[in-house]
Amino acid sequence: MTTLTLNNGVEIPQIGFGTAAIGEWQQDDSFVTDTILKAMAVGYRHFDTASVYGNERALGRAILQSGIPRQELFVVSKVWDTEQGPKTTEAFERSLERLQLDYLDLYLVHWPVPAYTRETWEAMESLHDARKIRALGLSNFRKSDIEQIATFARIKPTYNQLELHPYLVQQEMVDYCQFHKIAVSCWSPLGSGSWSGVETKDKPIVDPVIVALADKYDVSAGQIILKWDVQQGRIVIPKSEKLEHITANFSLWDFELSDEEIQSINALNRDHRFGADPDTAHESNKNVAVPD
Ligand SMILES: NC(=O)c1ccc[n+]([C@@H]2O[C@H](COP(=O)([O-])OP(=O)(O)OC[C@H]3O[C@@H](n4cnc5c(N)ncnc54)[C@H](OP(=O)(O)O)[C@@H]3O)[C@@H](O)[C@H]2O)c1
Repeated sequence: MTTLTLNNGVEIPQIGFGTAAIGEWQQDDSFVTDTILKAMAVGYRHFDTASVYGNERALGRAILQSGIPRQELFVVSKVWDTEQGPKTTEAFERSLERLQLDYLDLYLVHWPVPAYTRETWEAMESLHDARKIRALGLSNFRKSDIEQIATFARIKPTYNQLELHPYLVQQEMVDYCQFHKIAVSCWSPLGSGSWSGVETKDKPIVDPVIVALADKYDVSAGQIILKWDVQQGRIVIPKSEKLEHITANFSLWDFELSDEEIQSINALNRDHRFGADPDTAHESNKNVAVPD
């Protein structure tokens, strides 16, 4: 398993398993647990959840049932908009309780809410001091949000999770994060899951450039996209319910894209978001409650 080293020395497996909307959005049953157990059997050790996904309990059950030692797993969760500021510590403790864990490997601010960022981050720093979180990170943070954190943070962010796929390459943001030694993780790396309502025909996974490369290397289109990310030092967290996809997404090591091929995928960029825009997301996020 390939790992990257975060700026605080913590190792993170480069390929993680996305857990948003396994089955349905906020589904939290044995189907979710069994899907995660399949991913564990394939070899995944890094799992990406969030309080708002409503499935932390299912991940917690999978962890217990798997029998995998806790220190071999890398568990990520996130504080939702409505939990930020004064509620951050309580939200974190609820996540731990649902996951049946006593620490998280990485805890993220799910979306920037500048009015709350300082209070949220300082609460996270205290949890880090108490050794309840091994690394602190961000999600959907823009350059201005990272600059805001830099004005007060005692503990530097290690990671920023961004919507990133061949139709939204975010090169400037990636360069900015990498320059500041903030690891870049790609959400919806294959162009989003069922929660988004986007049809397959509109996703980069069927783009002729990607399909031609998949034919050339005798791999799947998903593997080409994920390889394009990992070769450029990014973390990926694809989600799948199908064993064939779960296995393929974890098997990226038998081929190598050339620099020209990486550029040809970069050139597919359309600055197109399938998910929310950090400039406006909070307006709707604040109406979305975290299920208990
Ligand atoms: N921080 C944030 O704001 C944020 C937002 C969204 C998502 N995320 C995280 O990012 C993770 C991944 O994003 P996502 O779930 O939106 O989308 P994604 O991983 O880009 O794509 C998932 C979709 O692709 C299909 N798929 C998976 N592997 C495939 C393959 N090899 N070939 C063809 N199709 C394949 C899946 O279908 P099957 O299940 O049928 O295989 C599913 O419909 C989430 O689960 C979540 O953990 C974070």
